[in-house]
Amino acid sequence: MNCIITGASKGLGKAMAERFAAGGYHLYLCSRDAKTLATTTEELATRYPTVTIHSRPADMGEKEQVTAFAQWVSASGATVDVLVNNAGQFIPGSVHNEPEGVLEKLIAVNLYSAYHLTRHLLPAMIARRSGHIFNICSVASLQAYPNGGAYSISKYALAGFSANLREEMKPHGIKVTAVYPGAAYTDSWSGTGVDPQRIMTAADVAEMVFTASRLSPQATVEEILLRPQLGDL
Ligand SMILES: NC(=O)c1ccc[n+]([C@@H]2O[C@H](COP(=O)([O-])OP(=O)(O)OC[C@H]3O[C@@H](n4cnc5c(N)ncnc54)[C@H](OP(=O)(O)O)[C@@H]3O)[C@@H](O)[C@H]2O)c1
Repeated sequence: MNCIITGASKGLGKAMAERFAAGGYHLYLCSRDAKTLATTTEELATRYPTVTIHSRPADMGEKEQVTAFAQWVSASGATVDVLVNNAGQFIPGSVHNEPEGVLEKLIAVNLYSAYHLTRHLLPAMIARRSGHIFNICSVASLQAYPNGGAYSISKYALAGFSANLREEMKPHGIKVTAVYPGAAYTDSWSGTGVDPQRIMTAADVAEMVFTASRLSPQATVEEILLRPQLGDL
């Protein structure tokens, strides 16, 4: 069994990589920074010697690099059993005064990445009539909040992509799950002064995704909504 995860050198992506590796999945990972990705790959390979960890740097905000990553996965001959569209970026801001170009940037990284990668990998999945696609949205996909701005807009769009894909894939035997995490402690929170104990761990999100992937072929978890016990920050 194979699991493809984008944005997997750190944070939620790395936590999901660990969980799927522990579950016996071979991994295909990407992120932009080659050095961090190589370090994560080596770390996982050491800890989970019975699975193979493949990785390739890619900026998922660049369509040509999404295509190259997809072609690399396809050329390996690996079946896509699980695809996690996780790569994403958070830039706080407000519609009325965030810098020009932020929306375009975040739509590219948070939406087009998932759309294009999925479209590349889907034909083989449809032919096999199996596979599970997780789209890592956010509670910012469900409600507006201060400083949400372009990030929240892009995450609403990713949720729309996920809902449409779920409907389309019903007759093809492919599962689609939208994941809506609230705050989970990752590098994107370090330096913010937020108490790690106040919010979820990346492993919490990873455990839910892994568990949702293990149901019988006739059951699909359409949505996973997780929040810190004390609620949103
Ligand atoms: N943590 C939370 O509280 C939270 C809550 C809701 C939703 N989310 C979502 O969960 C996902 C992961 O967030 P995180 O908190 O784990 O972030 P993180 O700790 O900053 O890690 C992000 C990962 O994605 C990679 N990445 C970033 N931009 C990329 C790009 N353009 N192409 C390829 N890889 C890229 C990063 O590596 P490089 O920088 O080297 O590329 C890193 O491996 C995001 O979609 C985020 O919106 C997070």
